[in-house]
Amino acid sequence: MKKYLYYLGLSVTVLALGICMNLVTSCEGPEGPAGMDANENCVQCHNDGSVLFAKSLQAGNSKHMTGTAFERNSTSCAICHTSQGFVERMDAGTTTTSGTIHNPTPPNCRTCHMIHENYDTTDFALRYSDPVTLWINDVTIDLGDGNLCANCHQPRIPDPLPTVGGGNVTINSNRWGPHHGLQSSTLWGTGGYEIAGSESYGTPGSTTHAGAGCTQCHMAEAYGNQAGGHTFNMTYDYHGRESENVAACTGCHSSLKSFDYNGVQSEVEELLDSLKNVLADKGWLDPDEELPNASSDNPLVLSADDAGTLLNFLIILEDGSHGVHNPGYTVALLTNSLEHLTK
Ligand code: HEC
Ligand code: HEC
Ligand code: HEC
Ligand code: HEC
Ligand code: HEC
Ligand code: HEC
Repeated sequence: MKKYLYYLGLSVTVLALGICMNLVTSCEGPEGPAGMDANENCVQCHNDGSVLFAKSLQAGNSKHMTGTAFERNSTSCAICHTSQGFVERMDAGTTTTSGTIHNPTPPNCRTCHMIHENYDTTDFALRYSDPVTLWINDVTIDLGDGNLCANCHQPRIPDPLPTVGGGNVTINSNRWGPHHGLQSSTLWGTGGYEIAGSESYGTPGSTTHAGAGCTQCHMAEAYGNQAGGHTFNMTYDYHGRESENVAACTGCHSSLKSFDYNGVQSEVEELLDSLKNVLADKGWLDPDEELPNASSDNPLVLSADDAGTLLNFLIILEDGSHGVHNPGYTVALLTNSLEHLTK
């Protein structure tokens, strides 16, 4: 009888525990701080589904993770090149970190999402989504989810910065320019040196592509771990052939077969090449390196307009979309720059 009562007690306890675990009720004691329940929290993301794994595979094959530029961990570079430096400067509202970022990490899940802050799926919210005021000209742009990207993918301020109607500039370095990742400004249609000419620059922010933010094109339906989704890539390899992820475009352009839609990329490449040749002939640009011909020993002294054409060349080169981000603005910057130099 004693034995029977013992087993009864044990099974009631096991049953209670079972109910407790199955129904995912909170099991902490009456006193003491509320503990974190792994059933309630961690499994919302760490479970037998593939969501986290799929995103990790994709993100792992993005240039964010495969690139090595997160080695640039000093105060003025770490703000875009390291995850920790980015979060530090965004929260502090500064443009440098307080020190070198040790054990740097590249842009990853924690950079863009709130991972391990609330320990539930609200942590998938984007860490930053406010409109971004560009450093180069104080213009505020609103790309929706793409605002997150624009904080890093914006021009750095060239030193010195030529301004329309301003005085001569003295360029002391072949690294002068807008840096490598300025895409948000061209997408919005701002940030170029808007020299007068026959082509109109249009109204900033008014194109349908600006409305697509960055995500509609760069995060289209994932193609394995090569393009779309969290790879952010626009192209993938198919049997040794580079293929374009046109699925990012066909929702709006049903007849589109390549990124060179209506020949816009070809036109932009031709204009960019012509501008490059003119700048090289003038001795302002090294055509092989595609860098300004300038150093502290051999500074380049140019009028604002002349320097502006060099800046426009570098902007469209570094934009990397060969005009797709903003066809009208791109063609206007290149055409009007060429007109100024060859008139
Ligand atoms: C919002 C979804 C989410 C929740 C909730 C969540 N995690 Fe994570 N966890 C992640 C993501 C995303 C990563 C990073 C995966 C990667 O880098 O590929 C991660 C990584 C980890 C790692 C690997 C080491 C590391 O820090 O990168 C551990 C361990 C971990 N989580 C434990 C937990 C535990 C324990 C809980 C509950 C207390 C929890 N997680 C809750 C999303 C979540
Ligand atoms: C914390 C700063 C940061 C954020 C936020 C960020 N990026 Fe990047 N991105 C970078 C850096 C830095 C690189 C280059 C990494 C390298 O080369 O090591 C890069 C590279 C890329 C590339 C590859 C470029 C190439 O040359 O192949 C694409 C595409 C890209 N980012 C798109 C995006 C999109 C879309 C978003 C928003 C969803 C975004 N990025 C958010 C910093 C950022
Ligand atoms: C405003 C954010 C920002 C800052 C600040 C910044 N970078 Fe970058 N950098 C980027 C982005 C975005 C890319 C990726 C461009 C791409 O691949 O299209 C990049 C790319 C690079 C690359 C890779 C170029 C290539 O062709 O692969 C190097 C190297 C680099 N940056 C060095 C630096 C250094 C050094 C500093 C500091 C002096 C710095 N960056 C500051 C955003 C930034
Ligand atoms: C460069 C920024 C960036 C990085 C890095 C990043 N994400 Fe995202 N993630 C986004 C954006 C932007 C969206 C919204 C996508 C859209 O608008 O289509 C998103 C969406 C998601 C969603 C869907 C959320 C929802 O509410 O539907 C999940 C899940 C997710 N990301 C997980 C991850 C995981 C896991 C990692 C790391 C392996 C990661 N992300 C890395 C920017 C990023
Ligand atoms: C209308 C679609 C579209 C939008 C919106 C868009 N991109 Fe692109 N992006 C492209 C295409 C197409 C290319 C060129 C790919 C090629 O020719 O290889 C490109 C090229 C790039 C590159 C150069 C490296 C690469 O992947 O080839 C970067 C970096 C980039 N985009 C980032 C961004 C960022 C950041 C945003 C938001 C500020 C953005 N893009 C918005 C379509 C888009
Ligand atoms: C959200 C819808 C949308 C998406 C997605 C989109 N486009 Fe567009 N695109 C437009 C619209 C609308 C126009 C006409 C100009 C405008 O209204 O802004 C346009 C204009 C263009 C032009 C200029 C055409 C011309 O003849 O001057 C090109 C090139 C282009 N898009 C290429 C692309 C490529 C390549 C992609 C995919 C990487 C893409 N677009 C994705 C809506 C879109």
